Amino acid sequence: MPEITYQGKTYPCAPNETVLDTLLRHGIEVPNSCRAGSCHTCMLHCLSGELTAPSQKDLKPALKSLKYFLACQCVPPQDLVVALPDDEDVYVSARLVEKTQLSPSVWRFRLETAVPVYYHAGQFLNLKNDAGWVRSYSLASLPAEDESLELHVRRMPGGQMSHWLIDNFSVGMHIEIEGPNGHCIYTEGEPERPLLMIGTGTGLAPLFGILRDALHQGHTGPIHLYHGVREPAELYLHDSLTALAQQHDNLHYHACYSCGETCSGMRAGRAADLALAEHPDLKAWRIFLCGAPEMVKQTRMKAYLAGVAMSDISADAFTAPEH
Ligand code: FES
Repeated sequence: MPEITYQGKTYPCAPNETVLDTLLRHGIEVPNSCRAGSCHTCMLHCLSGELTAPSQKDLKPALKSLKYFLACQCVPPQDLVVALPDDEDVYVSARLVEKTQLSPSVWRFRLETAVPVYYHAGQFLNLKNDAGWVRSYSLASLPAEDESLELHVRRMPGGQMSHWLIDNFSVGMHIEIEGPNGHCIYTEGEPERPLLMIGTGTGLAPLFGILRDALHQGHTGPIHLYHGVREPAELYLHDSLTALAQQHDNLHYHACYSCGETCSGMRAGRAADLALAEHPDLKAWRIFLCGAPEMVKQTRMKAYLAGVAMSDISADAFTAPEH
């Protein structure tokens, strides 16, 4: 069996075991989240040995040539010597320029970098703090309209990184960012096509960017945004989205809550349930799903059964153990 050498010690792989699983099984703490090749938090540097193609899929060419790879996607064919990424290869320093509370549990963070970060609305960044914690956060900003990088962070019960960001990360401080990553973006070329966007909690962040991107690019087809929260008090960006819908006849904004008291201006029910009940025939639609993994998984299947091609469903599930 191949062996993985990390920080001077060598660990044997089990049959068909990934580098990530080998290290975790031996008690080595390696940042990770989705274990599916999406979030890039498990990126490692290969100092010696040959990498498999799947372990470098979707990495930037510069990182590929430096022999970076995703540990969760690498079943090594031979021995490897690996290390955590060199910060200067992977990360860019970003300064916090604004931190604003948007709801009892959600904060908006605006970051600026010395060199521009080129991204599409809807992509995500990985943030790394001085303790080495790495977490993924979706961008809510739109490059054409926003000068800073905007992220929405929900305080998660027991969530190390979200608590640190909200309680300890102050305006003027710096954090390391990696990315952008992800394919959940608006693509131009079909401006009349109907778009259905369903997001729960801070799944609104990427959708806020994507829908503004669509409008900015002159999308003329109907856009339905369903944002779901548990209780009405958790709703955020309500005024901004209401104003945007008033400016654009083709934007239909539905704020939904699944429990709690009746609230005017909001709809009772789960966002995905309402959206699918009101759009039973989704042939020719493009769908965006962002939020809790279970919602994304179930809604993807239901949308497919309602006529959408799988290739027309873009999803950004919160795969991290905490955000
Ligand atoms: Fe490996 Fe997400 S890409 S844990």
